[in-house]
Amino acid sequence: MAEKGGKVAQLHIGDLCIELPILSGNEGPDVIDVSNLAAQGYFTYDPGFVSTAACDSNVTYIDGDKGILLHRGYPIEQLAEHSDYLELCYLLLNGDLPTADEKTRFVNTIKHHTMVHEQLSQFFKGFRRDAHPMAIMCGVTGALSAFYHDSLDIDNWDHRRITAHRLIAKMPTLAAMSYKYSQGEPFIYPRNDLDYAENFLHMMFATPCENYEVNPIIAKAMDRIFLLHADHEQNASTSTVRLAGSTGANPFACIAAGIAALWGPAHGGANEAVLNMLAEIGDEKNIGKYLKKAKDKNDPFRIMGFGHRVYKNYDPRAKVMQQTCREVLDELGVRDDPILQLAQKLEKIALEDEYFIEKKLYPNVDFYSGIILKAIGIPTEMFTVIFATGRTPGWITHWNEMISGPYKIGRPRQLYKGPSRRDYVPIEDR
Ligand code: SDX
Repeated sequence: MAEKGGKVAQLHIGDLCIELPILSGNEGPDVIDVSNLAAQGYFTYDPGFVSTAACDSNVTYIDGDKGILLHRGYPIEQLAEHSDYLELCYLLLNGDLPTADEKTRFVNTIKHHTMVHEQLSQFFKGFRRDAHPMAIMCGVTGALSAFYHDSLDIDNWDHRRITAHRLIAKMPTLAAMSYKYSQGEPFIYPRNDLDYAENFLHMMFATPCENYEVNPIIAKAMDRIFLLHADHEQNASTSTVRLAGSTGANPFACIAAGIAALWGPAHGGANEAVLNMLAEIGDEKNIGKYLKKAKDKNDPFRIMGFGHRVYKNYDPRAKVMQQTCREVLDELGVRDDPILQLAQKLEKIALEDEYFIEKKLYPNVDFYSGIILKAIGIPTEMFTVIFATGRTPGWITHWNEMISGPYKIGRPRQLYKGPSRRDYVPIEDR
């Protein structure tokens, strides 16, 4: 990261002039380094980190105004068309696309980490059958750290590497187990003759009673859904993983923290919320009423799957997801699915609404993903589990990027508005 030709920003407060370095990245806006501001007796104030870069990173770049998303420089549209999920995992982890031999070895490595310790299956029994699968995923992912004491030295590159492979390989297994547990069905072991997405669908829908034939179109769509969720720079859950990691916590605990943050409906929980919203709207004739609610500042209702902190243009992932949605529904012969029809009508009306135009609100990655997952037969409460599975390589890549270089524990400050010092009052005098 270079200082912009040694340029500085000058902050004048009364007679005080504070010089703050201006730093430039390879893409995107310059940043003003305020790290020495505390020494001058001031903090910056930025609730929600709207204008704050918490770190520098080489992984993913988003241009929200132009609707651009690059993973290690490669556009998401090209990766969605030409690559696959495990190749993107390799790219995120290693910084470059693999050669054919590197890809074969990586895929083989992941295949041989897909099983979880047999004792881990006992953890599921502690949950009610109707537990939300995200609650289970938070628990069992964190519990993985209890099984790998041999590789928890975060300063050891080999330990960090095998942990990344274990997490990428085991998340689909744990996700499918959380689904099977909710169905009261036996867990299905992973199979090494299937590719990543085929294996996930197999573990989700196969039973010991009969074979499950994976539909290749559905498997490709599943792989693309994982790919589109793989990373998204410093979003809330990735920032949570980084903050947890900055304390030196083990990577399994950090990923469990990321899963917890992703669960919220403002973040990864939005895909589940989109389907619930569409069910609530019910019919095209109600769209106007709900758009009115979404624009009413006194009404907490929002059009889920719309809007984004960074994208003030169409989320490029949403475009690919919409195309994938049409392919899946065509394949399943449900192109005129009423939920998809309603979603497309809602999107059209919202994009022509002056409020949405003025606020630059466009569909995001979550708007169409749930419709695909529902069509595949995945229940709504599993949608965010799918998101968490897809996002795992991004989380572990950002964790590794931070841990493998110099870092400080994350410790934000505050603007204190509470009571000044006062003396304790005995209860008899209150
Ligand atoms: C993800 O960060 C990432 O990269 C996240 C993610 C990833 O891959 O990790 O992309 C995944 O989380 C996508 C977002 C999924 N969430 C939803 O779809 C939930 C619905 N969207 C909103 O809750 C909202 O748009 C957020 C949370 C996504 C973004 O919130 P911001 O950036 O804090 O924006 P805001 O809430 O300040 O909204 C700006 C204005 C507000 O109006 P004013 O206060 O300026 O008058 O737009 C309005 C909001 O009221 N607004 C909406 C709206 N989203 C924002 N109004 C109606 N419907 C919406 N969906």
